[in-house]
Amino acid sequence: MLLPKAYVGFKIQDVALKILEGNVDLEVWEQDEAPPRETLLTDLKDMEGLLSGITIRVDEELMGAAPNLRVISNYAVGYDNIDVAAATKRGICVTNTPEVLTNATADLTFALILTSARRIIEASAYLRAGDWKVWTPEALVGREVAGSTIGIIGLGQIGQAVAKRAHGFDMNILYYNRTRRQDVEAVVGAKYVKIDELLRESDFVTIHCSLDASTRNLIGEHELRLMKKTAILVNAARGAIVDQRALYRACSEEWILGAALDVFESEPVPLDEPLLSLPNVTTVPHIGSASRGARDGMAMRSAENLLTALRGRRPRDLVNREVWKKD
Ligand code: GLV
Repeated sequence: MLLPKAYVGFKIQDVALKILEGNVDLEVWEQDEAPPRETLLTDLKDMEGLLSGITIRVDEELMGAAPNLRVISNYAVGYDNIDVAAATKRGICVTNTPEVLTNATADLTFALILTSARRIIEASAYLRAGDWKVWTPEALVGREVAGSTIGIIGLGQIGQAVAKRAHGFDMNILYYNRTRRQDVEAVVGAKYVKIDELLRESDFVTIHCSLDASTRNLIGEHELRLMKKTAILVNAARGAIVDQRALYRACSEEWILGAALDVFESEPVPLDEPLLSLPNVTTVPHIGSASRGARDGMAMRSAENLLTALRGRRPRDLVNREVWKKD
């Protein structure tokens, strides 16, 4: 039997290979760095499936080079790396990996909140530099998280999981979402406010919306200037939702207390990015979903979505539902 051909754009875990091997004629990009564009344009020529990730830009040109493509299975919940409209026009299914990384990303968000509020990175560096000569009441004093106000931008699954955790810290919870989520706001105990009010009132502003044309640069100079001088901005969603140049000014000129970032406009973030020079900016390299459970869940879910679509059935996590007219 002729197996459908699919390309996996990075070294994927064995849990995914177990699902695919024997069912799909697989080609896996085994190197650590992302496949060069030219390689992709050539290698996708006969492929019916692509298992992609945030390092692979799947645009018109790439789809044009893969005329047999039927499914793009993204190893991520976000899919801003894919031109979904172009895929839909070509009848290509696009899938993502929701749910499996919700807790991991919400946990990382709280790790960022606590790390920056309590100046953990700075405190660790202080100790190792030999600056810990004596204990004093004012050394390394940070912000209290318990009882403060958190403003959640985007009350999807991850935003809701952040709200749940915020309850454990007795936080007052505000949220803003493109469309009000009355169905879940009572469940998670979050109050809907307009974005400007959220920015004015919150001690921690945390971003959990997806990146699209309407959220690109959602947080710019105007928004940062609305925040309290004592507030911290947290971003574990997508870098381009925040205007990074405006954020640099906000943190260096102390319009706000600081920021904690898992994501950047351009990734991997260049080492000469000015934000990296600021002590009040906590940075980690896009590790929101980097827990064993979440990553294995993403591997299996993306493999299952790929295989289901290649078998001509509706994949569980179909993003562009309009492409599926069969049932
Ligand atoms: C990671 O950033 C994801 O979207 O899953």
